[in-house]
Amino acid sequence: MAVALILVLIVVGSVAFHLLSPWWWTPIASNWAYIDSTIVITFWITGAVFVAVVLFMAYCVYRFRHQPGRQAHYEPESKRLELWLTLVTGIGVAAMLTPGLFVWRQFITVPQDATDVEILGQQWQWSFRLPGPDGKLGASDIRLVGPDNALGISREDPNSQDDIVIEGGELRLPVGRPIKALLRSADVIHDFYIPEMRAKMDLVPGQISYIWFTPTRTGTFEILCAELCGVGHPQMRGTVIVQEQKDYQAWLQAQASRTFARLTPTAQ
Ligand code: CUA
Repeated sequence: MAVALILVLIVVGSVAFHLLSPWWWTPIASNWAYIDSTIVITFWITGAVFVAVVLFMAYCVYRFRHQPGRQAHYEPESKRLELWLTLVTGIGVAAMLTPGLFVWRQFITVPQDATDVEILGQQWQWSFRLPGPDGKLGASDIRLVGPDNALGISREDPNSQDDIVIEGGELRLPVGRPIKALLRSADVIHDFYIPEMRAKMDLVPGQISYIWFTPTRTGTFEILCAELCGVGHPQMRGTVIVQEQKDYQAWLQAQASRTFARLTPTAQ
């Protein structure tokens, strides 16, 4: 009886903790509400299964407890039960996976009008590059990284000259505009993560990965690294400031001294 009661308490406690927990996700600041929806669906399904299984265990522990003279009935197989369980499990798993496929399709389909922004991760900081007035990022290669070229930007590419380089500083983005973040790593695998944007993607050395999102409200958000990348991993944080379009443009105008051509005079 005590064991059955403990099992019931575990169910009640878990559900209460889930509903009352202060450790809930941060208020969303991007277009990725779908990601929250898929997590909520997963919570409902796994939660229902958890409650059902543990309550069933509690019932069995109580109902079939030891009693003098009562013998267990040996029944190793039951076709009906197996079929039933397989079907229910299959439906449950499909219900969790299917919404994810739809969201993933949107996740990898970047809107045509998205602005490119480059994000470079290295042990242990975030750097950024914004396309200048030409709207294009110049070519880059990790082999070009040097003391005066932290992001390894190509000097030959004319598109590089007006690129705005922000080394280890704050990234600014305009609100309401889709952003395509091109992710590069200078050393090991990092993971770009802004909890409020629900956007998260690995940075893999030797390749350019990407992620897109549209910031939906202004504010200051923290960029985290979500991949263990060495002793400095917890300190690998950055800041993104989402601004109204006019404030963003004003800031952008003021960045003329941070163009690649200015920072790296030999690039001219
Ligand atoms: Cu970079 Cu953890």
